[in-house]
Amino acid sequence: SPSRILILIKPDGVRRRLTGEILRRIEAKGYALTALKLLTPTEEVLAAHYVEHVERPFYPGLVEYMTSGPVVAAVVEGDRVIEGCRSLMGTTDPTTAAPGTIRGDLARDWGTDAMENLIHGSDCESSAAREISIWFPELG
Ligand code: CMP
Repeated sequence: SPSRILILIKPDGVRRRLTGEILRRIEAKGYALTALKLLTPTEEVLAAHYVEHVERPFYPGLVEYMTSGPVVAAVVEGDRVIEGCRSLMGTTDPTTAAPGTIRGDLARDWGTDAMENLIHGSDCESSAAREISIWFPELG
């Protein structure tokens, strides 16, 4: 049975004109886009999305990064889509992300405070449900 994931193409991805390339990789893997929008997130949306990071030392830099321009938010659907998208994305840190992954091939984090890594994907089904309700309240 198909599952869903919330994907964000972060401001560095949109700025670097990588939206098409990243969505292409997701679609080429066989997943379906079921919702899609471009928006600059508010601090309120980010505090809800990053509830487990708000106390971390990197959080202020993360907010500055994530509000620096528009992001693409998408709901992506398919069989085992969370595992599949995590594999497509590569590890959080672009330096160690494997070649062939989105971050390994395309991300360049050169000493920024927030670890600019192009893309976010929900890490489990409960996060996906929570994050989809934050970014797409109109789907509820
Ligand atoms: P993301 O998967 O969106 O979740 C939290 C984000 O915080 C992460 O990607 C990075 O952009 C950023 N970040 C910055 N520093 C760290 C860190 N030390 N560990 C994890 N995430 C970090």
